[in-house]
Amino acid sequence: MTRQILVTAALPYANGPLHLGHLLEYIQTDIWVRYQRLAGNRCTWAWASDAHGTPIMLKAQAEGMTPEALIESVKASHEADIKDFLLVPDVFHTTHSAENQELAELVYNRLNEAGYIVKRTIKQLYDEQDKMFLPDRYVKGECPNCAATDQYGDNCEVCSATYDATELKNPISQVSGKTPLLKDSEQHFFALSQFGDMLKDWTTSGTLQTEVANKLKEWLDNGLQDWDISRNAPYFGFEIPNAPGKYFYVWLDAPIGYIAAHKHLGDKKGFDFMETWKPDSEHEVYHFIGKDIANFHCLFWPAMLENAGLRKPNGVFCHGFLTVDGAKMSKSRGTSITARTWLNHLNPEYLRYYFAAKLGSSVTDLNLNLDDFITRVNADMVGKVVNIASRCAGFITKKFDGRLSTIYPVEPQEHYDQMVSAQQVILEYYEQRDYGKAMREIMLLAEHANTYINDAEPWVKVKDPEQQQAVQDICTVGLNYFRVIVTFLSPVLPQLAGKTEEFLNTSLTLEALQCPLINQTINPYKPMITRVEDKQVQAILDATKETADAAASTSTTANAAAAKLEPIMDTIEIDDFAKLDFRIAKIVDAQPVEGADKLLRLTLDIGLEQRNVFAGIKSAYQPATLIGRHTVMIANLKPRKMRFGLSEGMVLAAGPGGSDLFILSPDNGAAPGMRVK
Ligand code: MSP
Ligand code: ZN
Repeated sequence: MTRQILVTAALPYANGPLHLGHLLEYIQTDIWVRYQRLAGNRCTWAWASDAHGTPIMLKAQAEGMTPEALIESVKASHEADIKDFLLVPDVFHTTHSAENQELAELVYNRLNEAGYIVKRTIKQLYDEQDKMFLPDRYVKGECPNCAATDQYGDNCEVCSATYDATELKNPISQVSGKTPLLKDSEQHFFALSQFGDMLKDWTTSGTLQTEVANKLKEWLDNGLQDWDISRNAPYFGFEIPNAPGKYFYVWLDAPIGYIAAHKHLGDKKGFDFMETWKPDSEHEVYHFIGKDIANFHCLFWPAMLENAGLRKPNGVFCHGFLTVDGAKMSKSRGTSITARTWLNHLNPEYLRYYFAAKLGSSVTDLNLNLDDFITRVNADMVGKVVNIASRCAGFITKKFDGRLSTIYPVEPQEHYDQMVSAQQVILEYYEQRDYGKAMREIMLLAEHANTYINDAEPWVKVKDPEQQQAVQDICTVGLNYFRVIVTFLSPVLPQLAGKTEEFLNTSLTLEALQCPLINQTINPYKPMITRVEDKQVQAILDATKETADAAASTSTTANAAAAKLEPIMDTIEIDDFAKLDFRIAKIVDAQPVEGADKLLRLTLDIGLEQRNVFAGIKSAYQPATLIGRHTVMIANLKPRKMRFGLSEGMVLAAGPGGSDLFILSPDNGAAPGMRVK
C-alpha cells in the first residue's frame, strides 16, 4: 500500500544564515524524503522559516531595518541555500503568515475554551531604558547557586543549576547594559501540568528514540510546570486574541507553522491539509529535529495538538549536534561554516555523502573531521563509485559506437539480480535512518563491481581482435553495476543520479532495475565528480575565520551596551557639518613609522592628489593588508606637523582600540576622490 507521509524539519530562525549544523538536519531529512519517493510512497515535506521572537526583533533594530524586511531577506538567503544543497521541500513558507496566524488563534482558542489557558500575574525583569520585559537570555548576572559571574538568566554554565532570571544576583540587561527592575505582568499559561500522564504514555509508546524518551522521563517524573505562552509588547509575533499588548511566545506558533506551511501547499495544490491533521488520519507525520528542541516537540507540542483536537506525530526523529574537527560550532572560533561558504568552494554532494556515511538513527553527536572527510569522499565517491563508469565508458564509446551488448552477457545474470536484491537491506536502512549502514552496503557493491572489472581486464582484452565481444560485454556488465549502485545512492547524491540518467539514457528507478540495460546506445562519458583537494577545505576554513573576524567587529558596535562607550559630544549645526570635506581615498602605500608604536604612514590617493597621513591604527592592521583598500578621509583638515613629518588629513576609524579598531572601508565601487556626504 502506498504510504502517505508528511515530513517536517525544524524551522530555521530567520535571523542568520544556515550553517553546517543546520545542514546536518536538513540533509538527513532530504535523504529520507527522497528515499520515500524512490520507494514509491507519497511523501510531502512541509517546511518554513521561523520568523518571530525577541532575537529577530532586536537584530532588525540593530541593523536599522523592520523585522519584516529582515525576515524576508534571511528567508531569501535560506531559499538559495536550500536549492543549492539540492534539498527538495514541497514548500518553504514562513511563520509570519496569514495561515499561521489563523491556525495559532484556532489552537489557542480551542485550548482556552477547554479551560487549559490560565492567566497568572508574575514578576519579571523589566528594562526601563528600552521599555521591555527581558527574556532569560537577555539578562546576565551572578548565579544564585554558585555565585559565578556573567551567567545567563536561565542556567549557569559553571554549576549547571537552572533557575528563574529573577533569582540572578546583580542582574544586568544585555539590551541596555542597565540594571533591570522587577515588574508585575499578567501572563497566559498553557496548563501543561495536567497532561503528565498522557505524555508519559505517548513518550513511551514507540514514537521516540529510547534515549530521548529516557531523558524526558526525568522531566515527567519531576512533574511538569504550566507553560508561559505569552510575551509582552514590544514583541515581533502575533497578538493574542482579546489580549491587547500580549503576543504568542514564538515557541507556540513555530510548530503550528508546520501545519500552516502544509495548508499553504494544500491551498495551492488543491488538497485538504486537514485530511492529514484530523485525529484519526491514516496519513503519517514525522518531525526531524535536533536534540536541543526535544522538549518543545515531545512534550509541549503533543499536549497542544491533543487538546486542540488535532493528531499527534507518528515519530519525532532527534539527531545529535555537529562538531567540526572535534570543536563545537562557534562563530568566534571560526568553526561555524555557513552553507554559502561551503558552496563557494565545494560541491554540496560531498557534504551530503559524508553526512550520510556518518549518520545513524541515534542522538549521538557527529563530528566533521576534515581530514577524514577528504579521504572518505575521494575513496568512496571518486575511487569506488564513479571509477566504475569511467573505466567502462571509454571502450563503449570508442570501440562500439556507444552501444551496449545486445544480450546480457558473460557474467551469469544471477550476479546482477543479486546486486539488485541488495535493495531490501539498503532500503530498510534508509527507512530506519541508518544511512551509514546503507552507505557501507552500497560501497560493498561498488567494491564488488571494481573487482569484477579488475579481474576481467578489458584494457588487456581490447588489444586482442578476437576478444572484442568480450570487451563490450564486460563494459556492459560494469555499467549495469554502476546503474544499480547509483540508483541506490540517488537519495544521497541526486546530482550524480541526474548525470547518470543522462549518460546511460535511462531513468533510475527501482522498477527499471528489474531488467538490465542492454541493446541501447549511451552517451559519451563526462567526468562526474572530481577529487576534493586539501586547498579547497583550507579555503573554507580561511573564509570562515575571516567572516568571524568581521562579525566580531560589527558585534562590537551592535553590543554597544556591553562595551563602555564614550558619551555623545555637543550638538553641531548643519553648517558645521557642511564644512567637513570627506573623500574616498585609496590606500596606495602603508608603512610602519620608525620610533612610533602606534602609527602607520599612509599614502592616500584622493584622485586630485596624494596625501601623507599618519594614522594610529598599527595595533589593528598589518600595513601590507591595507594597500589597495579604500577608506574615508577628511580632506580639508589643517595639515599638522608631527615629529615624523606632515600629516595631511585623517582617516575615519571606529572601535574601542587595540586590535579592535576598524578603518571605514567602503567596498561598493566608491572611487578615489568621491565626496562623502
Ligand atoms: N526555530 C527553531 C525551531 C522551530 S521548529 C518548530 C530553531 N531554529 S534553529 O535555527 O536554531 O535550529 C534549527 C535546527 O537546526 C534545530 O533542529 C537545531 O537542533 C538544528 N541545529 C542547529 N545547530 C546545530 C548543530 N550544530 N548541529 C546539529 N543541528 C543543529 O531551533
Ligand atoms: Zn552556578
